[in-house]
Amino acid sequence: MKIAVVGTGYVGLVSAACFAELGHTVTGVDIDEKKIAILKGGKSTIYEPELEELIQRGLQSGHLSFTTDLQSVLPNVEIVFSAVATPPGEGYKADLRAVFTVAETVAKNATRGLLFVNKSTVPVGTGQKCEETITQILKDRGAPFSIPVVSNPEFLREGLAVPDTLMPDRIVVGINANEKAREMMEELYRPLTRVGRPLLFMSRESAEIVKYASNSFLATKISFINMLTEFAEMTGANIRHIAAGLGLDNRIGPKFLHAGIGYGGSCFPKDVKALLQTAKEYGVAFDIIEATDAINTRQRFRFFDKVLKALPKKATVALWGLSFKPRTDDMREAPSLDFIPLLLKAGHSVNAFDPAAIENTKKFFPREITYASSPMEAATGADTVVVLTEWDMFRGQDLKELKKVMKGKNLFDGRNVYEPSEVREAGLTYHGIGIGGSEC
Ligand SMILES: NC(=O)c1ccc[n+]([C@@H]2O[C@H](COP(=O)([O-])OP(=O)(O)OC[C@H]3O[C@@H](n4cnc5c(N)ncnc54)[C@H](O)[C@@H]3O)[C@@H](O)[C@H]2O)c1
Repeated sequence: MKIAVVGTGYVGLVSAACFAELGHTVTGVDIDEKKIAILKGGKSTIYEPELEELIQRGLQSGHLSFTTDLQSVLPNVEIVFSAVATPPGEGYKADLRAVFTVAETVAKNATRGLLFVNKSTVPVGTGQKCEETITQILKDRGAPFSIPVVSNPEFLREGLAVPDTLMPDRIVVGINANEKAREMMEELYRPLTRVGRPLLFMSRESAEIVKYASNSFLATKISFINMLTEFAEMTGANIRHIAAGLGLDNRIGPKFLHAGIGYGGSCFPKDVKALLQTAKEYGVAFDIIEATDAINTRQRFRFFDKVLKALPKKATVALWGLSFKPRTDDMREAPSLDFIPLLLKAGHSVNAFDPAAIENTKKFFPREITYASSPMEAATGADTVVVLTEWDMFRGQDLKELKKVMKGKNLFDGRNVYEPSEVREAGLTYHGIGIGGSEC
């Protein structure tokens, strides 16, 4: 099929490259000219494993192209995906301006009927409003065709975005009574349904809610285990053992039970807060999700407080990990962005290392902190090392070597990646999360 994907960010770029890989003819569209120029040259604009190879293969095969001109693409496509950002707006309400800009541009310039598919995360009712806006514009133009709006929320995880898109757990499609639209979405996803990936059809409203419900549920699992960490510390228990005991129950499962400094990123914090905002508008109480959000904030700052209290005056702090999670360069709602200002305000200096996110961190702190080219370089002469992101490479660091290069002895493990006994054997003092008693 011939499709356009508008917004070539984390979701749009991956979707465009994967749809091209699956044999569709795809044009990625963005208003950011610099981005489009880089993509046309076969380079990825984000750090995402396997993505650049897909982009290059798509460009070479002719299945993938990029442009800034949405209007010029419209006569040639059957489906337009909108994958633009929906960042937190006033009071954490999702800011839908980009979605409506794309919908209006499509309605004003379309020369034939097509499907408008919303891939962005949007509050329930947005698809309906988009369809009303588009229908009104088409009516005013006297256009002899229609543009139905479909909801197709995205569930990919940054860092695993390509495999998640090519082998999704499920594909959710929300359509309100439109057989032709349903057939088109079936055809689009046939390469995936053929290999057994489930395609679920439901109403547009249900599909819009599924996305927020999924993210809020996963965030709640994280906050649930984090809620128990302080308790574990007080009672001499070990949160890792508690998580293992919980997670081996098939009804619960081990995923998202890893205690740490809480969730960040471009989705969980904003989607949890946006869902709470929508609930408020409808006058319903989402008490569990309120608690999820509050625990997450408390958890992050509880850890920062501990580190700050343990630091000598004018300390040098080595930060290991800056991105909000491993295998991405995404800094949205990253704990490092909260922590660095606190450290600087208290008069400490920061020496940071991250395998992928240094360039993006420099946009926030161009001169205020120093950047190292390896974890050991960051730790050299440091009073304390703080692990903020669980990049795999941190697990394999030589802890005895770490002890040698550091000035101090404290290792604060915000992601519980180390065995406390191994850290202690290396002569360092371990501070994990939720590990009490003799194991702390
Ligand atoms: N990042 C994730 O892991 C993830 C996962 C699932 C769902 N989502 C949702 O997908 C949506 C997109 O998220 P993202 O992380 O890809 O955002 P992003 O900020 O990485 O990308 C958005 C892109 O849209 C472009 N854009 C903005 N306005 C435009 C316009 N009018 N026309 C063309 N391009 C325009 C921007 O230049 C940018 O390249 C959001 O609703 C998000 O909540 C994100």
